[in-house]
Amino acid sequence: PALPEKLCGVTDIDGVMDAAGLSNQHVRDYVHRYFELTGADRIEVVNASDDARLLREALDAGELAPAGEGRYYSRSHPKDTARSEERTVVATSNPADAGVYNNWRPAAEMRPLLEDRMRGASAGKTMYVVPYLMAPPGSPLEAFAAGVELTDTRTVVLHMIRMARVGVDHVNDLGDSFVRAVHVTGDLDSLGQGTPDDQRWFVTLADERTILHYGSSYGGNALLGKIAHGLRQATYDGWASGDFLAEQFLLLGITDKQTGRKYHVCGGMPSASGKTNLAMTLAPDALGDRYRVDFYGDDIAWLRADPDDGRIYAINPEYGAFGVAKDTNEKTNPTAVEAIAEGTGTIFTNVAYNEQTQDVWWEGKTKFPPADVTGWRDWKGELISERSEEEKDAPWAHPNSRFTTTLANIPNIAPDYENPKGVPVDAIIFGGRTRDREPLVRAVTDLAEGVYDGLTLGAEATFAAEGTEGVLRYDPMSMRPFMAYPEGAYAAHWLKVIGAATDQPIFAHVNWFQRDPEDGHFLWPGYRDNLRPLLWLMQLRNGEVTGRQTPVGVVPTPEELDLTGMDLRPGDLDTLLTIDTARWQQEMAHREEHLAQFPDLPEAIWTAHRRVAAALDDQ
Ligand code: GDP
Ligand code: PGA
Ligand code: MN
Ligand code: MN
Repeated sequence: PALPEKLCGVTDIDGVMDAAGLSNQHVRDYVHRYFELTGADRIEVVNASDDARLLREALDAGELAPAGEGRYYSRSHPKDTARSEERTVVATSNPADAGVYNNWRPAAEMRPLLEDRMRGASAGKTMYVVPYLMAPPGSPLEAFAAGVELTDTRTVVLHMIRMARVGVDHVNDLGDSFVRAVHVTGDLDSLGQGTPDDQRWFVTLADERTILHYGSSYGGNALLGKIAHGLRQATYDGWASGDFLAEQFLLLGITDKQTGRKYHVCGGMPSASGKTNLAMTLAPDALGDRYRVDFYGDDIAWLRADPDDGRIYAINPEYGAFGVAKDTNEKTNPTAVEAIAEGTGTIFTNVAYNEQTQDVWWEGKTKFPPADVTGWRDWKGELISERSEEEKDAPWAHPNSRFTTTLANIPNIAPDYENPKGVPVDAIIFGGRTRDREPLVRAVTDLAEGVYDGLTLGAEATFAAEGTEGVLRYDPMSMRPFMAYPEGAYAAHWLKVIGAATDQPIFAHVNWFQRDPEDGHFLWPGYRDNLRPLLWLMQLRNGEVTGRQTPVGVVPTPEELDLTGMDLRPGDLDTLLTIDTARWQQEMAHREEHLAQFPDLPEAIWTAHRRVAAALDDQ
C-alpha cells in the first residue's frame, strides 16, 4: 500500500525531537525512516519523567483502569496473551548462523517482509520514541545495552518505563551503536493468530542489530528491550564479540548473617518455572533470622569473566520485573505481594478486575475467588455474574496474567543492584517443571558437565508461550525461545567464557516440581523453602558437606539438608533425593538424539555425556 497521504511535513518531527533533547543524528534518521514507513500521525519522544502524564492519558483513553491508589489494570486482546515461538525468527545474512532452535531466516527475506507489514500500519496513531538502556549505567557491557524502541502503543511505553532505564541521555552520545527496535501492533482482530494464515512476525535481524516486531502488544512480544534485545540480540552480540553470555537467568544473593559471607547464585529456568519467585524469596521463617536473600534479577543475566579476580560477574540488564500473577500470595511470596501493593505504580495485565471496587484477583491470590461476584469481570472483560453453566469453572484470570513493577519496589532488592560491575557468581543452576526423575538438587562440579547439564535441560513447557503448555521438551539452558546462533557454537562459547574464570562457579540442577504419581501433589512445598537446597549447595562449594556422589551429580543426604520446621512426608523426602537409574538410562537415549541435532558440538560435551552414561551403566 502507498504511504498515507499527509503528515510528513505537517508534523514537525525535528521540532519534537529538538524539544525532547534527542540530539543523536543516527537516532533521528532512524525515527524519520520508520515514521514515514509506518505512517504514524504524530511522534512523541519519551523520558521516564513522562510516566505520570502517560498514565493519565492511558486512563482517560480507557487503555488502563485504576486498580486502587497508584496501581493500574490493563487487558490485552484475547488472542494476544503470550509469547509466540512459532512466529519468532532470528535473521542474519549468514546461513551458517542457522541453528536448531533459532528459526533462522535470511535477513534479505525478512526485512522486506516485515517492512511490508508495517507500511502504513500505524496510521492514525502516535509513534512513541523510547530510548533505553539495558544495563546499570557504567557497566563494562554498556556498549551492548542501548536501544531505541519505536512503538505505536502507549501501554507498551508504560511497561518499558518500568522494565528498562528510559530517557534520551542513554543514547545521545552513542553515534550509531544502539539497537533499532521497531514495534508495530497491527490490527489484532484480524491477524489470524495461531492459524495457517498468521500475519505476525517477531524478527531479530541480529547482525544488523535491528528488531522488527509486528502483530502483538503482549509484553513478551512487545517489550523489545527485554526479550528481543536483552536476550536474543544480546546473546548474539555476546558471541559475536566473543566476550559475554546473555541468558534467561535469575540472579540472587544469599547472606549468611552469622558468618557474614555473601554468595551469588544465577540460573536458568524456562518461562513460568519459578525464576521470579526464587529471586524474591525470603528465608523461610523456620530458619530464624540467619539468612538474607537479595534480589538482583529475575529473568535476564549477562555474564562475563573478570580478568582482575578471575571470577564470573553477572548483571541484570533490566529495571523491573514482569511476573506471573498466578499463585502469588502472602504465603508463597510475601515479597512480591509488597512489590505490587498500592502506591507502587504496578500495572496488572489480564488478571480479573472489579470495576466497582477497583480490586484485582487471580487464581491462587486467595484460596477461593471472591464470594460476592458483583462487579467482577474475568480477563476477557466478561462479567462473572453472567457466566453460563459451561463457563462457570473457567479461570477468572488468564494463566499467563502478569504484574509489572520496577526493581526499586521489590522489598528485598539488593542494596548494590545498580553496581555497574555486577556481582561475582558462586553457582549456576538449571531447573524447570519436571514431574519425575530430576531430584530436588544435584550438584555438578565439572565445567563441561555443567554446560552439558544445561544443554539437556528438559522440562514441561508452560502457558508463557502459546500452544505448548505441558509438553515435555528440551529447552537448552532455558534459552530455547531466545537462541540466536547455532547450539554447537553456543556450547563452545559457554566453555570459553566460563572457562576463562580461574575461580569457577559450581553448577547444579534443581527441581521444585516433582509430583506424587498417585495423587499429583508437589512433593516439595517450594517457594521460600527453595532456599534450603541452595544453602546446601553453598556448603558443598565450601567443603562443609560432601553429599552423596551419584552418576548424575552430588545429591544431599537427608541429614545435610536443613529441614528445620518442615513436615515433609518421609517417603516424599526419599523420592526427592533418589536417582532412579533405569529412568535415567532411558533419558540418556533421548539426550543422545537431542544432542545429535547439533553439529559441531564441542567434544567436551560428548565426553561429559558418555561419562554420565557409563556411570549409570556401572550402577
Ligand atoms: P518465572 O516465569 O520463571 O519467573 O516463574 P515464576 O516465579 O513467575 O513462577 C511461575 C509460576 O510457578 C507461578 O504461578 C508460581 O506461583 C509458580 N511457582 C514458582 N515457584 C514455585 C515453587 O517452588 N513450587 C511451585 N509448586 N510453584 C512455583
Ligand atoms: P518469565 O518472563 O520467564 O518470567 O516468564 C517472561 C518471558 O520469558 O516471557
Ligand atoms: Mn523469561
Ligand atoms: Mn519471571
